[in-house]
Amino acid sequence: MKYPIQLQRSNSSALPSYDFTSINFGPDHTDHLFCADFKDGQWQNAAVKPFSEFSISPLALCLHYGQTVFEGMKAFRLQDGSVSIFRIQKHLERLNRSLQRMCMPDVPEELFINALDKLVSTDQGWVSGLPGNSLYLRPMVFATEARLGVTEAKEYKMMIVALPISNYYNGTVKVKVETEYTRAAKGGAGFAKCGGNYGGAFLPTRLAKEAGFDQVLWTDSETHTFIEESGTMNVMFVIDGTLITPPLSGTILDGVNRDSILTLAKDSGIQTEERPVSYHELEAAFNRNAPVEAFGVGTAAVLTQIGEINILGRSYFPDCSSSGVAIKLRNELQGIRTGLLPDRHHWNYVVSQPDTAQMFNP
Ligand code: COI
Repeated sequence: MKYPIQLQRSNSSALPSYDFTSINFGPDHTDHLFCADFKDGQWQNAAVKPFSEFSISPLALCLHYGQTVFEGMKAFRLQDGSVSIFRIQKHLERLNRSLQRMCMPDVPEELFINALDKLVSTDQGWVSGLPGNSLYLRPMVFATEARLGVTEAKEYKMMIVALPISNYYNGTVKVKVETEYTRAAKGGAGFAKCGGNYGGAFLPTRLAKEAGFDQVLWTDSETHTFIEESGTMNVMFVIDGTLITPPLSGTILDGVNRDSILTLAKDSGIQTEERPVSYHELEAAFNRNAPVEAFGVGTAAVLTQIGEINILGRSYFPDCSSSGVAIKLRNELQGIRTGLLPDRHHWNYVVSQPDTAQMFNP
């Protein structure tokens, strides 16, 4: 094994007293984390350890110039009791595309898969299997080199933390088409899952929330008419029975659930189109009373129906019934991920059993 992973078990666990019926997504975490260092041109010191804080220099480059990249993925409890990580390979590919865009070192496949396997297997008691629950996995890479020069770092840290999660959004969301602020422009880093893409969205999102919406619906930077994505989700519309989603033009995130839902829609014979969709097209569809569904798809959000779209001050209300395309596809996705339906695309990676030989520290 090129990247051996040490296991240092925690002497205590928060699991016995944890209430999976009132998960607080964000602060709550499992007992362990994974970490590794990139130094002298290679990944080293890979270990699963007790969750703890750590220190970095105030000169660490991640604090200054934004070399921070992350992923968001999930583990589920299958019907047979085993635990599986959803679409591990696709997340690795996206992570490495983000890292390349930010001039950061690739994470090798062996390291990524073994790190996730060891962490999730060690903390697999945290995958409750309750309906709607899963384990959110947050791999991240950031520059730790202590040197204030505006330059690519030579030293990085990779960490993976695991958090229990239930529904990220409760019910449907209200969105406002954003025609002033821009999330990403052509040639920028919009496709990368880097911290700045999220930080830059906070102000427009705050303004949208103050106006009574949950999220903004981003539009393209040049004309502010073509829909890009929404908050933390890719967006999809079903108009007259055709599922339409903006193409991966470089400004939006190559969402794993975007790809999964598109695949499942095609499998079911639903017509799909990856093409630019303008808010004018949405307005026209609503105004002629065409059947319109709208939803966001993302790892945390899964598939969240959009109950209201505000276009330049006028609100429209997509169909959010449970008999539509959205809920059918969401149920199918959830069925595959929890082992209720066959995993015909081989999306589930079943993690190893916990290493009982290393259950306790000597
Ligand atoms: C995800 O859907 O996994 C995200 O990264 C969105 C959010 C939790 C930041």
